[in-house]
Amino acid sequence: MNFIPQMEPWFGSEEKEAMNVYMEEGGWLTEFRRTALFEKMIAEYTGAKHCVVVNNGTISLTLMAMAAGIKAGDEVIVPNYTMIATPNSLMMFGANPVFVDVEAENLCMDIHQAEKAITSKTKAIMFVNANGRNPKPGIEAFADLCKRHNLIFLEDAAQSLGSRYPDGRHQGTSGVAGSFSFSAPKVISTGQGGAVITNNDELATSLRKLKDFGRTGGGNDIHDSIGYNFKFTEMQAVIGIEQMKKLPWRVERKKEILKKYHSQLKHIKEITFFDQDLVHTTPWFIDVLAEKRDELAKYLKERGIGTRIMYPPINRQVAYQRHGVYTVSDLVGEKGLWLPSSAQLTDEQILTITDAIGKFYK
Ligand SMILES: Cc1ncc(COP(=O)(O)O)c(C=O)c1O
Repeated sequence: MNFIPQMEPWFGSEEKEAMNVYMEEGGWLTEFRRTALFEKMIAEYTGAKHCVVVNNGTISLTLMAMAAGIKAGDEVIVPNYTMIATPNSLMMFGANPVFVDVEAENLCMDIHQAEKAITSKTKAIMFVNANGRNPKPGIEAFADLCKRHNLIFLEDAAQSLGSRYPDGRHQGTSGVAGSFSFSAPKVISTGQGGAVITNNDELATSLRKLKDFGRTGGGNDIHDSIGYNFKFTEMQAVIGIEQMKKLPWRVERKKEILKKYHSQLKHIKEITFFDQDLVHTTPWFIDVLAEKRDELAKYLKERGIGTRIMYPPINRQVAYQRHGVYTVSDLVGEKGLWLPSSAQLTDEQILTITDAIGKFYK
Protein backbone atom coordinates (compact mmCIF):
# COMPACT_ATOMS: atom_id res chain seq x y z
CA MET A 1 0.00 0.00 0.00
CA ASN A 2 1.26 3.48 -0.81
CA PHE A 3 1.94 5.75 2.14
CA ILE A 4 -0.88 8.24 2.76
CA PRO A 5 0.78 11.55 3.67
CA GLN A 6 -0.84 13.90 6.17
CA MET A 7 -0.76 16.51 3.43
CA GLU A 8 0.59 16.84 -0.07
CA PRO A 9 0.52 19.75 -2.50
CA TRP A 10 -1.20 18.98 -5.81
CA PHE A 11 0.11 20.09 -9.19
CA GLY A 12 -0.89 18.67 -12.55
CA SER A 13 -0.24 18.93 -16.27
CA GLU A 14 -1.90 22.40 -16.32
CA GLU A 15 0.89 23.89 -14.18
CA LYS A 16 3.56 22.17 -16.29
CA GLU A 17 2.08 23.42 -19.56
CA ALA A 18 1.61 26.95 -18.27
CA MET A 19 5.23 27.00 -17.11
CA ASN A 20 6.39 25.80 -20.53
CA VAL A 21 4.39 28.52 -22.27
CA TYR A 22 5.90 31.13 -19.97
CA MET A 23 9.47 29.91 -20.44
CA GLU A 24 8.99 29.88 -24.23
CA GLU A 25 8.03 33.56 -24.03
CA GLY A 26 11.46 34.32 -22.52
CA GLY A 27 10.34 36.22 -19.44
CA TRP A 28 12.58 37.76 -16.78
CA LEU A 29 11.23 35.41 -14.10
CA THR A 30 10.80 38.18 -11.57
CA GLU A 31 7.31 39.50 -10.84
CA PHE A 32 5.45 41.12 -13.73
CA ARG A 33 2.24 40.46 -15.67
CA ARG A 34 1.55 36.94 -14.36
CA THR A 35 2.00 38.20 -10.82
CA ALA A 36 -0.45 41.04 -11.48
CA LEU A 37 -2.96 38.52 -12.85
CA PHE A 38 -2.53 36.23 -9.84
CA GLU A 39 -3.14 39.23 -7.54
CA LYS A 40 -6.24 40.15 -9.53
CA MET A 41 -7.60 36.61 -9.23
CA ILE A 42 -7.13 36.62 -5.43
CA ALA A 43 -8.67 40.08 -5.10
CA GLU A 44 -11.69 39.00 -7.16
CA TYR A 45 -12.11 35.70 -5.32
CA THR A 46 -11.97 37.35 -1.88
CA GLY A 47 -13.86 40.48 -2.92
CA ALA A 48 -11.02 42.77 -1.79
CA LYS A 49 -10.06 45.95 -3.63
CA HIS A 50 -6.31 45.24 -3.51
CA CYS A 51 -4.10 42.17 -3.30
CA VAL A 52 -0.33 42.39 -2.91
CA VAL A 53 1.65 39.16 -3.12
CA VAL A 54 5.00 38.61 -1.42
CA ASN A 55 7.45 35.77 -1.01
CA ASN A 56 5.72 33.98 1.88
CA GLY A 57 2.88 34.14 4.40
CA THR A 58 5.13 35.18 7.28
CA ILE A 59 6.51 38.23 5.49
CA SER A 60 2.96 39.09 4.38
CA LEU A 61 2.05 39.30 8.10
CA THR A 62 5.13 41.39 8.90
CA LEU A 63 4.52 43.83 6.06
CA MET A 64 0.77 43.99 6.78
CA ALA A 65 1.52 44.90 10.42
CA MET A 66 4.17 47.46 9.46
CA ALA A 67 2.02 49.03 6.77
CA ALA A 68 -0.89 49.25 9.23
CA GLY A 69 1.29 51.36 11.54
CA ILE A 70 2.43 48.87 14.20
CA LYS A 71 5.89 49.78 15.48
CA ALA A 72 8.67 48.27 17.62
CA GLY A 73 7.56 48.13 21.26
CA ASP A 74 3.83 47.96 20.46
CA GLU A 75 1.86 45.07 21.92
CA VAL A 76 -0.23 42.97 19.54
CA ILE A 77 -2.72 40.42 20.87
CA VAL A 78 -2.43 37.03 19.13
CA PRO A 79 -3.83 33.56 19.90
CA ASN A 80 -1.69 31.12 21.88
CA TYR A 81 -2.76 28.38 19.49
CA THR A 82 -1.48 29.26 16.01
CA MET A 83 1.43 28.60 13.72
CA ILE A 84 4.51 30.23 15.23
CA ALA A 85 4.74 32.57 12.20
CA THR A 86 1.90 34.69 13.65
CA PRO A 87 3.90 36.00 16.64
CA ASN A 88 7.28 35.69 14.90
CA SER A 89 6.12 38.03 12.14
CA LEU A 90 5.78 40.73 14.83
CA MET A 91 9.05 39.93 16.62
CA MET A 92 10.74 40.49 13.25
CA PHE A 93 10.49 44.27 13.69
CA GLY A 94 10.44 44.46 17.49
CA ALA A 95 6.69 44.46 18.19
CA ASN A 96 5.60 42.35 21.15
CA PRO A 97 3.05 39.54 20.69
CA VAL A 98 0.79 39.00 23.71
CA PHE A 99 -0.78 35.55 23.88
CA VAL A 100 -4.39 34.81 24.73
CA ASP A 101 -6.18 31.47 24.80
CA VAL A 102 -8.60 30.21 22.14
CA GLU A 103 -12.19 28.94 22.17
CA ALA A 104 -12.49 25.20 22.89
CA GLU A 105 -15.06 24.63 20.12
CA ASN A 106 -13.20 26.20 17.19
CA LEU A 107 -9.65 27.22 18.24
CA CYS A 108 -10.23 30.88 17.33
CA MET A 109 -9.09 33.61 19.74
CA ASP A 110 -11.30 33.96 22.85
CA ILE A 111 -12.70 37.48 22.77
CA HIS A 112 -13.03 37.74 26.57
CA GLN A 113 -9.37 36.82 27.03
CA ALA A 114 -8.45 39.28 24.29
CA GLU A 115 -10.32 42.10 26.02
CA LYS A 116 -8.64 41.31 29.34
CA ALA A 117 -5.20 41.43 27.69
CA ILE A 118 -5.59 45.03 26.43
CA THR A 119 -3.11 47.45 28.06
CA SER A 120 -2.01 51.01 27.33
CA LYS A 121 0.66 49.55 25.01
CA THR A 122 -1.75 47.46 22.93
CA LYS A 123 -1.81 48.61 19.33
CA ALA A 124 -3.58 45.80 17.50
CA ILE A 125 -5.29 42.43 17.50
CA MET A 126 -4.05 39.88 15.00
CA PHE A 127 -6.88 37.35 14.73
CA VAL A 128 -6.22 33.91 13.24
CA ASN A 129 -9.08 32.20 11.39
CA ALA A 130 -8.03 28.81 12.76
CA ASN A 131 -8.55 26.13 10.12
CA GLY A 132 -10.86 28.52 8.26
CA ARG A 133 -13.22 28.85 11.24
CA ASN A 134 -15.21 31.79 12.53
CA PRO A 135 -15.19 32.81 16.21
CA LYS A 136 -18.34 32.14 18.27
CA PRO A 137 -19.26 35.81 18.84
CA GLY A 138 -18.66 36.55 15.13
CA ILE A 139 -15.81 38.42 13.51
CA GLU A 140 -17.60 41.77 13.85
CA ALA A 141 -17.38 41.43 17.66
CA PHE A 142 -13.59 41.61 17.25
CA ALA A 143 -13.83 44.52 14.84
CA ASP A 144 -16.06 46.33 17.38
CA LEU A 145 -13.70 45.56 20.26
CA CYS A 146 -10.87 47.10 18.24
CA LYS A 147 -12.97 50.16 17.42
CA ARG A 148 -13.89 50.71 21.08
CA HIS A 149 -10.24 50.54 22.17
CA ASN A 150 -8.82 52.34 19.14
CA LEU A 151 -6.86 49.26 18.02
CA ILE A 152 -5.90 48.08 14.54
CA PHE A 153 -7.68 44.88 13.52
CA LEU A 154 -5.72 42.45 11.34
CA GLU A 155 -6.48 38.90 10.22
CA ASP A 156 -3.99 36.12 9.72
CA ALA A 157 -6.11 34.15 7.25
CA ALA A 158 -3.21 31.90 6.14
CA GLN A 159 -5.40 28.79 6.54
CA SER A 160 -8.59 30.34 5.22
CA LEU A 161 -8.62 30.63 1.46
CA GLY A 162 -12.13 29.47 0.52
CA SER A 163 -13.66 30.23 3.95
CA ARG A 164 -16.26 32.91 4.51
CA TYR A 165 -18.04 34.61 7.40
CA PRO A 166 -21.70 33.63 7.84
CA ASP A 167 -22.72 36.79 5.92
CA GLY A 168 -20.86 35.53 2.84
CA ARG A 169 -17.88 37.90 2.85
CA HIS A 170 -14.52 36.17 2.51
CA GLN A 171 -12.40 35.79 5.64
CA GLY A 172 -9.57 38.28 5.87
CA THR A 173 -11.79 41.21 4.86
CA SER A 174 -13.13 42.31 8.24
CA GLY A 175 -10.15 44.27 9.52
CA VAL A 176 -7.93 46.78 7.78
CA ALA A 177 -6.14 43.89 6.02
CA GLY A 178 -5.90 40.10 5.85
CA SER A 179 -2.98 37.83 5.07
CA PHE A 180 -2.79 34.48 3.23
CA SER A 181 -0.12 31.84 2.66
CA PHE A 182 0.58 29.65 -0.35
CA SER A 183 3.16 27.39 1.33
CA ALA A 184 3.28 23.75 0.28
CA PRO A 185 0.54 22.39 2.60
CA LYS A 186 -2.07 25.08 1.82
CA VAL A 187 -5.24 24.46 -0.21
CA ILE A 188 -3.44 26.01 -3.17
CA SER A 189 0.32 26.42 -3.25
CA THR A 190 3.05 28.28 -5.09
CA GLY A 191 5.76 26.45 -3.12
CA GLN A 192 6.25 29.55 -1.02
CA GLY A 193 4.12 32.66 -1.25
CA GLY A 194 1.94 35.06 0.68
CA ALA A 195 -0.66 37.74 -0.03
CA VAL A 196 -2.21 40.69 1.75
CA ILE A 197 -5.70 41.82 0.82
CA THR A 198 -7.12 45.21 1.78
CA ASN A 199 -9.69 47.78 0.72
CA ASN A 200 -7.42 50.59 1.91
CA ASP A 201 -5.60 52.37 -0.96
CA GLU A 202 -2.94 53.89 1.28
CA LEU A 203 -2.14 50.58 2.94
CA ALA A 204 -1.84 48.85 -0.46
CA THR A 205 0.62 51.54 -1.62
CA SER A 206 2.68 51.14 1.57
CA LEU A 207 2.78 47.37 1.05
CA ARG A 208 3.98 47.76 -2.53
CA LYS A 209 6.73 50.11 -1.39
CA LEU A 210 7.79 47.94 1.56
CA LYS A 211 8.24 44.92 -0.70
CA ASP A 212 10.13 46.85 -3.41
CA PHE A 213 12.92 48.87 -1.74
CA GLY A 214 10.59 51.78 -0.99
CA ARG A 215 10.44 52.70 -4.69
CA THR A 216 7.95 55.46 -5.42
CA GLY A 217 7.00 53.80 -8.71
CA GLY A 218 7.58 50.62 -10.69
CA GLY A 219 11.25 50.23 -11.67
CA ASN A 220 12.44 53.73 -10.66
CA ASP A 221 15.22 54.47 -8.17
CA ILE A 222 13.47 57.24 -6.30
CA HIS A 223 12.84 56.39 -2.64
CA ASP A 224 10.83 58.43 -0.14
CA SER A 225 10.57 55.64 2.43
CA ILE A 226 12.53 52.60 3.56
CA GLY A 227 11.61 49.36 1.85
CA TYR A 228 13.10 45.93 1.35
CA ASN A 229 12.92 43.19 -1.24
CA PHE A 230 10.13 40.69 -0.65
CA LYS A 231 9.00 40.37 -4.26
CA PHE A 232 7.28 37.40 -5.87
CA THR A 233 8.38 35.62 -9.07
CA GLU A 234 6.55 34.95 -12.31
CA MET A 235 7.25 31.22 -11.89
CA GLN A 236 5.26 31.21 -8.66
CA ALA A 237 2.52 33.28 -10.30
CA VAL A 238 2.29 30.90 -13.29
CA ILE A 239 1.67 28.04 -10.83
CA GLY A 240 -0.62 30.17 -8.66
CA ILE A 241 -2.88 31.13 -11.59
CA GLU A 242 -3.47 27.46 -12.44
CA GLN A 243 -3.98 26.61 -8.76
CA MET A 244 -6.58 29.39 -8.37
CA LYS A 245 -8.61 27.80 -11.19
CA LYS A 246 -8.70 24.58 -9.14
CA LEU A 247 -9.61 26.27 -5.85
CA PRO A 248 -13.44 26.08 -6.04
CA TRP A 249 -13.36 22.29 -6.57
CA ARG A 250 -10.82 21.80 -3.78
CA VAL A 251 -12.89 23.88 -1.34
CA GLU A 252 -15.88 21.59 -1.92
CA ARG A 253 -13.78 18.41 -1.79
CA LYS A 254 -12.26 19.40 1.60
CA LYS A 255 -15.77 19.79 2.97
CA GLU A 256 -16.73 16.33 1.70
CA ILE A 257 -13.58 14.84 3.21
CA LEU A 258 -14.45 16.22 6.65
CA LYS A 259 -18.02 14.92 6.33
CA LYS A 260 -16.69 11.43 5.55
CA TYR A 261 -14.32 11.48 8.53
CA HIS A 262 -17.20 12.66 10.74
CA SER A 263 -19.59 9.92 9.69
CA GLN A 264 -16.97 7.15 9.84
CA LEU A 265 -15.53 8.15 13.22
CA LYS A 266 -18.63 9.36 15.04
CA HIS A 267 -18.95 6.15 17.08
CA ILE A 268 -15.37 6.41 18.39
CA LYS A 269 -15.59 8.28 21.69
CA GLU A 270 -11.79 8.73 21.92
CA ILE A 271 -11.85 11.08 18.89
CA THR A 272 -13.36 14.56 19.27
CA PHE A 273 -13.95 16.91 16.34
CA PHE A 274 -14.07 20.70 16.63
CA ASP A 275 -17.08 22.63 15.31
CA GLN A 276 -16.90 23.46 11.60
CA ASP A 277 -19.61 25.30 9.71
CA LEU A 278 -19.45 23.52 6.38
CA VAL A 279 -21.86 25.93 4.70
CA HIS A 280 -19.54 28.93 4.96
CA THR A 281 -16.11 27.53 5.82
CA THR A 282 -13.82 24.85 4.50
CA PRO A 283 -11.41 22.85 6.64
CA TRP A 284 -7.79 23.32 5.64
CA PHE A 285 -6.73 20.33 7.76
CA ILE A 286 -8.73 17.58 9.49
CA ASP A 287 -8.02 18.40 13.14
CA VAL A 288 -9.14 16.26 16.09
CA LEU A 289 -8.44 15.69 19.75
CA ALA A 290 -7.35 12.08 20.16
CA GLU A 291 -6.95 10.07 23.35
CA LYS A 292 -3.53 8.37 23.49
CA ARG A 293 -2.56 10.67 20.64
CA ASP A 294 1.11 9.80 20.36
CA GLU A 295 0.44 6.04 20.38
CA LEU A 296 -2.26 6.51 17.74
CA ALA A 297 0.11 8.51 15.52
CA LYS A 298 2.76 5.79 15.82
CA TYR A 299 0.22 3.03 15.13
CA LEU A 300 -1.03 4.81 12.00
CA LYS A 301 2.49 5.50 10.76
CA GLU A 302 3.34 1.80 11.01
CA ARG A 303 0.31 1.19 8.79
CA GLY A 304 1.37 3.69 6.15
CA ILE A 305 -0.75 6.62 7.35
CA GLY A 306 0.83 10.00 8.04
CA THR A 307 -0.44 12.39 10.73
CA ARG A 308 0.94 15.58 12.24
CA ILE A 309 0.95 16.70 15.88
CA MET A 310 -0.95 20.01 16.11
CA TYR A 311 0.85 23.22 17.16
CA PRO A 312 2.03 23.16 20.79
CA PRO A 313 0.98 26.15 22.94
CA ILE A 314 3.23 29.01 21.91
CA ASN A 315 3.79 30.33 25.43
CA ARG A 316 5.51 27.03 26.28
CA GLN A 317 7.86 27.08 23.28
CA VAL A 318 11.48 27.63 24.38
CA ALA A 319 11.57 30.58 21.97
CA TYR A 320 8.94 32.42 24.08
CA GLN A 321 8.63 30.93 27.59
CA ARG A 322 5.76 33.11 28.79
CA HIS A 323 3.83 32.04 31.87
CA GLY A 324 0.06 32.05 31.89
CA VAL A 325 -3.05 29.89 32.03
CA TYR A 326 -3.98 28.58 28.58
CA THR A 327 -6.31 25.63 29.15
CA VAL A 328 -7.46 25.12 25.56
CA SER A 329 -4.12 25.51 23.84
CA ASP A 330 -2.61 23.18 26.49
CA LEU A 331 -5.26 20.57 25.67
CA VAL A 332 -4.49 20.86 21.94
CA GLY A 333 -0.80 20.51 22.76
CA GLU A 334 -1.58 17.27 24.56
CA LYS A 335 -4.21 15.69 22.27
CA GLY A 336 -4.35 17.62 18.99
CA LEU A 337 -3.71 15.59 15.85
CA TRP A 338 -4.03 16.37 12.16
CA LEU A 339 -5.25 13.42 10.11
CA PRO A 340 -4.54 13.07 6.37
CA SER A 341 -6.09 16.16 4.77
CA SER A 342 -4.99 16.49 1.13
CA ALA A 343 -7.69 17.45 -1.35
CA GLN A 344 -6.59 14.47 -3.50
CA LEU A 345 -7.41 11.98 -0.72
CA THR A 346 -9.77 9.31 -2.12
CA ASP A 347 -12.87 7.97 -0.37
CA GLU A 348 -11.13 4.60 -0.23
CA GLN A 349 -8.13 6.08 1.54
CA ILE A 350 -10.39 7.80 4.08
CA LEU A 351 -11.97 4.41 4.80
CA THR A 352 -8.51 2.85 5.28
CA ILE A 353 -7.63 5.63 7.74
CA THR A 354 -10.86 5.48 9.74
CA ASP A 355 -10.74 1.64 9.86
CA ALA A 356 -7.21 1.80 11.23
CA ILE A 357 -8.29 4.34 13.89
CA GLY A 358 -11.21 2.10 14.84
CA LYS A 359 -8.89 -0.90 15.20
CA PHE A 360 -6.44 1.09 17.34
CA TYR A 361 -9.09 1.99 19.91
CA LYS A 362 -10.49 -1.54 19.99
C1 LIG B 1 -1.83 30.76 10.68
C2 LIG B 1 -0.57 30.82 9.87
N1 LIG B 1 0.09 32.00 9.78
C3 LIG B 1 1.20 32.13 9.05
C4 LIG B 1 1.75 31.06 8.37
C5 LIG B 1 3.04 31.24 7.66
O1 LIG B 1 2.95 31.13 6.28
P1 LIG B 1 4.26 30.80 5.40
O2 LIG B 1 4.63 29.37 5.69
O3 LIG B 1 3.80 31.02 4.01
O4 LIG B 1 5.34 31.73 5.82
C6 LIG B 1 1.09 29.82 8.41
C7 LIG B 1 1.65 28.66 7.68
O5 LIG B 1 1.26 27.52 7.92
C8 LIG B 1 -0.08 29.70 9.19
O6 LIG B 1 -0.74 28.54 9.28
